[in-house]
Amino acid sequence: MANNHLPSDTLTLSEEIFVADLSAPRKAGDSTQAVHSGRLENPYHSITEPLVSTATFTFENTQAVNEYMRSKLWGEPLGRSEYGRYGNPTITAAEARLAALEGAEEAVLFASGMQAISTLLLSLLSAGDHLVITENLYRKTRQFCTSTLQRYGIACTVVPMNDENALRQAIQPNTRLLFSESPTNPHNRLLDIEQFVTIAYEHHLLTVVDSTFATPFNLRPLEWGVDLVIHSATKYLSGHNDLLAGVVAGRHELLAGLREFQGIVGAISDAYVASLLIRGLKTLGLRIQRHNENAQRIAEFLAAHPAVERVWYPSLPSHPDYAIGLRQYKGFGGVVSFTVKGDGASTARVLDALQIPLLAVSLGGTESLVSQPAVISYYELSRQERRALGIDDNLIRYSVGIEDAADLIADLEQALQKV
Ligand SMILES: Cc1ncc(COP(=O)(O)O)c(C=O)c1O
Repeated sequence: MANNHLPSDTLTLSEEIFVADLSAPRKAGDSTQAVHSGRLENPYHSITEPLVSTATFTFENTQAVNEYMRSKLWGEPLGRSEYGRYGNPTITAAEARLAALEGAEEAVLFASGMQAISTLLLSLLSAGDHLVITENLYRKTRQFCTSTLQRYGIACTVVPMNDENALRQAIQPNTRLLFSESPTNPHNRLLDIEQFVTIAYEHHLLTVVDSTFATPFNLRPLEWGVDLVIHSATKYLSGHNDLLAGVVAGRHELLAGLREFQGIVGAISDAYVASLLIRGLKTLGLRIQRHNENAQRIAEFLAAHPAVERVWYPSLPSHPDYAIGLRQYKGFGGVVSFTVKGDGASTARVLDALQIPLLAVSLGGTESLVSQPAVISYYELSRQERRALGIDDNLIRYSVGIEDAADLIADLEQALQKV
C-alpha cells in the first residue's frame, strides 16, 4: 500500500554511487541526496518536480480500475493513485527525498509537524495503552500527550531527560512507546540516544524522536536504532518560513498502518507545499552548515557578555548535555536560547532594540527570528508554572538565520546595552 502512487521509473538514488574510476562504490553524500533523491520521471522532462494540482485521478475504463485496485490491494503497486487523499506524485517525490535524507525506507508527509505527531500517535496507540515522554518537549507535543491522548484512554508518564532510572521505572506492562525530542525546544537539551534505544530494546518498545532542531545533517536518529523520526518540516527542512509541513520517516512495516490511517482521517499535505519543500531541501546542507556556524559564534559571544546570565547551546561546556553532544551529534543547529541579567521588562527592551532578527515565533528559516517565550508561547501560564518548565521571564529564544554572523553579533551588542 505504501507509495502506491510511485511510478515504477522513480529516479531515487541508489544507496551506492560510483566514483570516477567506476571501481570503488561509495554512498551518496547528504547534500547529493538532498539535491537529487526522489526525482520522478515526468512527461515534460522538467528538472523540477511537476506540481500535480489535482483532487482526483482518471481511469481509461473499468478494466483499468479493476487492475489498479487488484494491484493496490494484493500485488505490485502500479505507481499511481485513485484519489488525492491517498497519494499525489509531487507529495511522493517530497517523501522519497525526505526518506533518503533520513536513511529511511519510507517517509509520510503531513500538513504540519503537529499533524505528523498527533496522527502517528493516534495510529499507533489504543485505549488502555501507555507512553513515556521526556520533559522539555515542544509545548504542544507535551500537551497532546498528557491531555489530548488521556481523553482517548491513553496514559502518559513524563520523565526527566536522560534519567535512566526514571525512564526504567516509568515503563509499565501496557507501555507501547517512548517519545523524545532532540535538541529540545527551547533549551537545546540533547537526548542520549544510545541509552534511550537500549532501554526501549530491552522492553520491546517503539522509539520515536522529534528531530526538528537537528535535521538529518546534524543527527540521523534511525542510524542510532530509533524506530521513527519526526520533523516539523515547517522549520529547517523547508527553511524559508513560507510553509507548514510535517514528516514521519522509518521502516515500511511501521508506516503502512500510518499511511492507511492518514487516508482515513485525511491528515494530508498538498502538492504546492510539497513542491516548495523539495526546493527548500536542495539547499538544506548549505543552510545547516551556515546555521551551525552562525549559532556557534553567537553562543560564544553571548557566553562572554556581561549582560548575559546563561546560554543554552550544546557546544558550550556549560550546557548539561555537552558530553552527549560530542559523542553523538555532528552539529547543534541554529537555535540559541539565553537569559539576560534582568527582569521580563528589560528582556523585552533587548528584543525591541534588535534590528536584524524579526520578532516572531518559529525557527529554522533563512531569516533570524527572536521571541521571549514567557510572553508568547507560554503566555497563559502563571509565572510559577512557567518556571517549573524552565521558562523564565528573562529567557530569549534566538533562531539564528543565515545572515552574516558579524552583523548579527554587532546588533546583539547594541541591543544588550538595554538590559
Ligand atoms: C520541536 C518541534 N516539534 C514540532 C513542532 C510543531 O510543528 P508545526 O508548527 O509544523 O506543527 C514544533 C513547532 O515549533 C517544534 O519546535
